[in-house]
Amino acid sequence: MNILLLGSGAREHALAVSILRSTSTSTLHCIPGNPGIASIATCHSIDVTNESILAFCLEHSIAFVVVGPEQYLEQGIADVLRDNSIAVFGPSQAAAMLETSKSFSKDFMKKHSIPTARYANFDSTQLVDASDFLHSLSTPIVIKADGLAAGKGVIIAQTKQEAQETIAQMFSGKFGKASSKIVIEEFLNGVEISVFAICDGNDFVLLPAAQDHKRILENDKGKNTGGMGSYAPTPFATKEIMQQISENIVAPTLQGMKNAGTPFIGCLFVGLMIVDSKPYVIEYNVRFGDPETQSVLTLLQGDVARLLYSATKGSIDKETISISSGYASTVVLASKGYPDEFEKGKVISGLDAIKPENVQIFHAGTTTKDGSVVTNGGRVVSVTSYAPTLEESLEKAYQGVQQIQYENKVYRQDIGLKGVNQLKLIS
Ligand code: AMP
Ligand code: GLY
Repeated sequence: MNILLLGSGAREHALAVSILRSTSTSTLHCIPGNPGIASIATCHSIDVTNESILAFCLEHSIAFVVVGPEQYLEQGIADVLRDNSIAVFGPSQAAAMLETSKSFSKDFMKKHSIPTARYANFDSTQLVDASDFLHSLSTPIVIKADGLAAGKGVIIAQTKQEAQETIAQMFSGKFGKASSKIVIEEFLNGVEISVFAICDGNDFVLLPAAQDHKRILENDKGKNTGGMGSYAPTPFATKEIMQQISENIVAPTLQGMKNAGTPFIGCLFVGLMIVDSKPYVIEYNVRFGDPETQSVLTLLQGDVARLLYSATKGSIDKETISISSGYASTVVLASKGYPDEFEKGKVISGLDAIKPENVQIFHAGTTTKDGSVVTNGGRVVSVTSYAPTLEESLEKAYQGVQQIQYENKVYRQDIGLKGVNQLKLIS
């Protein structure tokens, strides 16, 4: 089967490695890809409009498309391809609203009694109502732009005045159209985890829970980023909590989407806050997360391409994969300045060095220039490892990190530490 993967991050590099392990993959193409993906698959830099992608699929006899980033789903790529009888792992534009509109997803959760933070939605004609509502909450207060805002659309205001200013800024176009509507919600204080459910519209497989590290600095300080590291499975997701997530969150979400005539096919990524041993949904994403995917896929044995393909056919093949018993960890190497304006063009060395066993490098913001691989993005590469214990997997990942050099390499030194401490606490 000829497969096309859409995207260019470390998440897609990890997906490419998994897809290529499958015996059903004949050829793997990627649009646009990156130098890491180009070393194992054929990358094409073409326009990423629905029309160009469809034309590409027809020309290259693509039978199956795996969509990485949400932007393609928001532009309706899954609908266009399905209309042309091409199997797609990724939801329709309508089902993608679980991520592309936060007010839609909050109303959906309320309707289906899915646990989430108390909230209200407002548009720019409702400034007075919005301030009344925020005065009914205690600080900190969470304010979210309704639409996609490149991961920057959530502000946690420490005071009511800051909340008031944030609302005014959002309504005056801080995030363009994405903040013409907003969600104001109560702050949940707990432990954050990420869970992926591979969904076929009716049924699903829950993958091991991961923990992301969103802030740029150690101890979760500094600005929010796309994610600076991850590990899985996280001990914060106990068996009981995973069962609650499955029964009280993922199952009713799939049922609700099916009943609405917009069945969810793809990876449902549930961002959760565990408060007093109960999971609450912070947000849905409608695709794999980055950097969680690098860790989670490393734990999967078996035929991942088959798992994803069977989901697109409405009959998920749960037996095709199994979960390794150890731990996977991912450390993200970033560019100086990230998540604001960052440096580019720094020559990267050590990418080809022999890594410790079970350590892999996934490219993200890299490009080739004059025969060298150079930095070209905020998040440059992910270093991912697998080992029987979490501590060993972290140690190996950091050994891999030391082998990669470029000027002003930035990374967090405390990835996985919360997990290690929690494991000590419960052992
Ligand atoms: P999102 O873009 O929705 O993932 O939000 C970004 C980050 O803001 C999340 O990963 C959480 O750390 C934080 N966040 C969002 N909503 C809440 C909430 N209701 N309570 C506490 N933290 C939140
Ligand atoms: N790791 C968070 C995300 O992919 O949105």
